Amino acid sequence: MATQPGEVPAFPLRLGTPEQFAALRSALRDLSYDAPTLDSRRRSSGPGSRPGKPELNDALDAIISLLTDGDVLPEDRLRALVPADTLDALENLGVIEKLASDPNRYYATVLLYPILSVYVVSDRANPADESEPRIGPDYVYPAFTWNSQQFLSCLPQSSCERMLDIGAGSGVAALLGASSAAQVWACDLNERCVHFAEFSRRLNGIDNVTCLGGDLFEPVRGLTFDRIVSHPPYMPAYTQSLLYSDGGEDGEQILRRIVTELPEYLNAGGRSYCFVLASDRRSGTFEQRVRRWLGEREAEFDVISVVIEMHKRHEPPAPGSAPRRDVVVSGDQEALFLKLEATAIYYTALVIERVATGRRGVTARAQRAGVARSEAVEWFVNWTTSAAAPDFRAFLLESRPRLASHFSLEVTHSVANGALAPSRFVLRSDYPFSIAAPCPPWIATAIGACHGTTTVRELFEELERRQLLPAGLTLDQFAANVAEMVARGFLELEEFKLPESTDSTPVH
Ligand SMILES: C[S@@+](CC[C@H](N)C(=O)[O-])C[C@H]1O[C@@H](n2cnc3c(N)ncnc32)[C@H](O)[C@@H]1O
Repeated sequence: MATQPGEVPAFPLRLGTPEQFAALRSALRDLSYDAPTLDSRRRSSGPGSRPGKPELNDALDAIISLLTDGDVLPEDRLRALVPADTLDALENLGVIEKLASDPNRYYATVLLYPILSVYVVSDRANPADESEPRIGPDYVYPAFTWNSQQFLSCLPQSSCERMLDIGAGSGVAALLGASSAAQVWACDLNERCVHFAEFSRRLNGIDNVTCLGGDLFEPVRGLTFDRIVSHPPYMPAYTQSLLYSDGGEDGEQILRRIVTELPEYLNAGGRSYCFVLASDRRSGTFEQRVRRWLGEREAEFDVISVVIEMHKRHEPPAPGSAPRRDVVVSGDQEALFLKLEATAIYYTALVIERVATGRRGVTARAQRAGVARSEAVEWFVNWTTSAAAPDFRAFLLESRPRLASHFSLEVTHSVANGALAPSRFVLRSDYPFSIAAPCPPWIATAIGACHGTTTVRELFEELERRQLLPAGLTLDQFAANVAEMVARGFLELEEFKLPESTDSTPVH
């Protein structure tokens, strides 16, 4: 099936037999076409980021070039490097075909690459021939983009019963989630995405994922879930022409509908994780808007935002570097950002938990450190929800806080009466949260007294006896300050150990 220049066939892939999928899967595995091997061979984090064209020395080089980089390769060169049955397996399922304009050359109709433990297919950004690049409205969004990688880095790996991925795109989160969830649903409005996700499901031999087409929750009406994840479109746009990207004039129209419908689909104790571009506005914070969208039942939900990165829309990419995000700020987007009267724009993981017990839901926010991953998100959500429980006060007063290993205290000395005296205290942490917070001197003193041996109650009594606390500060106020220091990652409790820092391991 050859295509005309510039044309993107609606469904280039063939949903072949289980045997054809098994043959392709084992052919790719036999070549070590997997995430660790690609990382070490390419020494880069994603397709398109390799400078120049490296030589093709073996079958794996050729497959990387064809399926990940989207190169067009002469048939004789390909046949000299890649086993015939591997090429047959790719061709049988419509992954590669001969160029219509030059039948002596092969190209991949889609990109096919490993992400962590699964193979994923998504659309090419550039046509194989020299025609103009075309990203159509039904473009299947690649899972190796910065945005998708950040989305994946926010998702928990703990086990759950029923998981739903809304706006699944290539299906990457659903396919990865299949190893921790008993049953997963991958839904997308774009039928092309459903087709691609179903292809990848079969290619990976995954049985517990169902790929369905339809608007938001419509394909799963009547079901409920304990984990709902989404990386919806969120770029401000006057029209909704690019399904994967356009989020309406305020960028929030899809997210707002997801949150509004969430109470119908999220089980008690269940959590939803949405990775979005969010903003605080003169009219209120992001979390305040989310609470309004939840409607009458908002008190049943915790609304927790873990900021991943501030939006650098004015920052030009470094010369020669691949763009890190798909944020192309057009004049329209710039105008819409201004219209929002945004005071801050940032990428965030919005976690909404449906409270299982009788307490009221809480609202909280943290900023994740650049190298931190889902462990940091989970830790913050677990801490925040535990700290809201009715029996938490009793636990906290008897807990023994200690200094967290990534905490540092910065003291500025200024000249007063001809001598240097401490004048400014800043609490800092660079893992798992990124924070610098000025504090009054007594907080710096109190933190310095936390060695993991004294309870919060004993600390209060000791500091009060030595007149190191502000006059009138109650035990509960002191404990609330300690809880805040723990939430920020300055102090640590044995029962709520902070995640260990690993180096900046890329997601795939
Ligand atoms: C930014 S892409 C994310 C794709 C994938 N989850 C990922 O992270 O790579 C957003 C996806 O939402 C889908 N989408 C947009 N509007 C939708 C709707 N109303 N209902 C369901 N899916 C929708 C788009 O087709 C697209 O696949």
